Amino acid sequence: MRQSSLVVVANRLPVDDTVAPDGAFEWRRSPGGLVSALHPILHDKPATWVGWAGGTGDAPTLPDVDGIHLHTVPLSADDVREHYEGFANATLWPLYHDAVEQPVYHRRWWEAYQRVNRRFAEAAAQAAEPDAVVWVQDYHLQLVPGMLRALRPDLRIGFFLHVPFPPPELFMQLPRRAELLLGILGADLVGFQRSQAAHNFAQLANRVLKLPATDRRIAVDDRVVRIGAFPVSIDTAEMEALARRPEVVQRAQRLRRDLGDPQKVILSVDRMDYTKGIEQRLKAYSELIADGHVKVRDTVMVQVAVPSRERVEQYQILRDRVEREVGRINGEFGRVGEPAVHYLNQPFDRVELAALYRAADIMAVTPLRDGMNLVAKEYVAARVDDAGALVLSEFAGAAAEFQQAYLVNPHDLDGLKLTLMHALEASPQDVSSRMRAMRGHLRTHDIQAWATSYLNALVPGASPAA
Ligand code: ADP
Ligand code: F6P
Repeated sequence: MRQSSLVVVANRLPVDDTVAPDGAFEWRRSPGGLVSALHPILHDKPATWVGWAGGTGDAPTLPDVDGIHLHTVPLSADDVREHYEGFANATLWPLYHDAVEQPVYHRRWWEAYQRVNRRFAEAAAQAAEPDAVVWVQDYHLQLVPGMLRALRPDLRIGFFLHVPFPPPELFMQLPRRAELLLGILGADLVGFQRSQAAHNFAQLANRVLKLPATDRRIAVDDRVVRIGAFPVSIDTAEMEALARRPEVVQRAQRLRRDLGDPQKVILSVDRMDYTKGIEQRLKAYSELIADGHVKVRDTVMVQVAVPSRERVEQYQILRDRVEREVGRINGEFGRVGEPAVHYLNQPFDRVELAALYRAADIMAVTPLRDGMNLVAKEYVAARVDDAGALVLSEFAGAAAEFQQAYLVNPHDLDGLKLTLMHALEASPQDVSSRMRAMRGHLRTHDIQAWATSYLNALVPGASPAA
């Protein structure tokens, strides 16, 4: 059993099993913000990533990927149904995202959540050298810090939540709220995307567990758990370099030609998730066409919605509704060979994503609630030409850093239409001065800066990410 001085524990490994066009089995980087954030910082470090490989049954033995040792945790079909699809994605996910869909509570799911968290904690305990740093990620594994501390008190344990942490009024709904808070408090440092989340967490630790708590520190028995905001980011230099590649520039030009050389391209790239505001955005666009504010020939929309959590009922319902709406809009406003909405329900490689970003005049990132939203950051990094307007929801974590974006409340349909028009009609000078400011920010606040600041706070003096 290989042991490492730095162990990342996340529900999902950074690779997905896929079938190549020739029918062969291949592994490729999995989509999603967590993998995009952590993959670049572990690259070429003697680190282990503990996670699930995506299937059921025995855990496959995987080769190292880009220098990262992969330690797989097996999940049975029941675990996947009750832990991943159940407690993680039908209870916690909606609850933590403002309950934009109704959270579902089942006692059986809680048992699975405990069982699977224990398995991850045991795997992390095996994978960690004496005195190692173990960094636990996200809402699927909130009990792991506490379980791991009991197994291995020598470790430095960090926990980072990639999604929002909800206000007390919502969190108080959770049937096993005290155990969950105690699980997280097994860490030495608890990181959130925004300071509001740290504040919510401190309030709950005080209210539910009666612990002395400020927005920076919580006293638990004889320990002090530090909490704070560490907004996650992307590998800015990598995305910039990708976007400058001649093949990407050519591909972007080709994409525009294939779209019929419109004056404006509005792009959205999301996981197919009800938190992303896809339906509201489609409605805003179709009303702009119906009102006569935009013409399909001049202004096309490209909606990439990569399949996600497809066995969870709320996601199936969403996909049906989105596809029906795309069909309606195209049926009503499209022409032969000239759809209004180009809808792509598939994963893309990084080159294609970068080309899409470079081809888009407007990037519409309008989630109803989002921990950060790395797509917004990727778009900004890709606009090495300082062109391109970012329409960004106030409810995405990224809005705290991108005040120069065209900010919008996605629940306000008229406001969304106005902001889209504002971005469509903005002068090139306005667009580029906003983009320049955001790019400047992203160059200093990249993924390395995030990892360094978090790991320095977890282990003062040491900087494994630098
Ligand atoms: P979330 O964490 O909710 O998935 P983010 O916007 O933070 O949302 O991260 C999404 C990540 O997934 C980004 O890095 C993005 O590039 C990637 N991604 C999104 N759509 C696709 C797609 N169609 N193919 C491949 N990767 C994608
Ligand atoms: O933080 C959001 C998140 O759950 C990440 O953990 C993950 O990168 C992304 O959404 C994709 O979700 P899933 O692992 O369920 O496909």
